[in-house]
Amino acid sequence: MKRQKGWIVTFQPEGRTAEVMQGTSLLEAARKAGVVLTTRCGGKAGCLMCKVKVEDQSAAGIQPPGDAERRKLGSLLDEGVRLACQAAVRSNVTVHTPEDPLKAAVRRRLEAARRGDEDELW
Ligand code: FES
Repeated sequence: MKRQKGWIVTFQPEGRTAEVMQGTSLLEAARKAGVVLTTRCGGKAGCLMCKVKVEDQSAAGIQPPGDAERRKLGSLLDEGVRLACQAAVRSNVTVHTPEDPLKAAVRRRLEAARRGDEDELW
């Protein structure tokens, strides 16, 4: 559904959102949403550090990959992986970002504690 101002990009697992105009890159949308995506190439499809995964049902929410992105990602495109610096928004879309390794470790420990699973705590 098109909104009057723009499109909603949702970043999981944090659930943060940004409203952006058509053609905005996912990298710009992430910054607007306060989601940190590490980059080294300045958004030029050079470092591959901005990989995200687009949910199948919302793949239409992203413009098709260009030549540079196709060359860099190859078969990963078939798995829904996109370069946030190259992928442009064209409707509402949900994107999964890689979880920070430290946050992931903390989350796993908290989940183990909630389950009462002592073995996973240490
Ligand atoms: S920011 Fe380097 S490949 Fe996207």
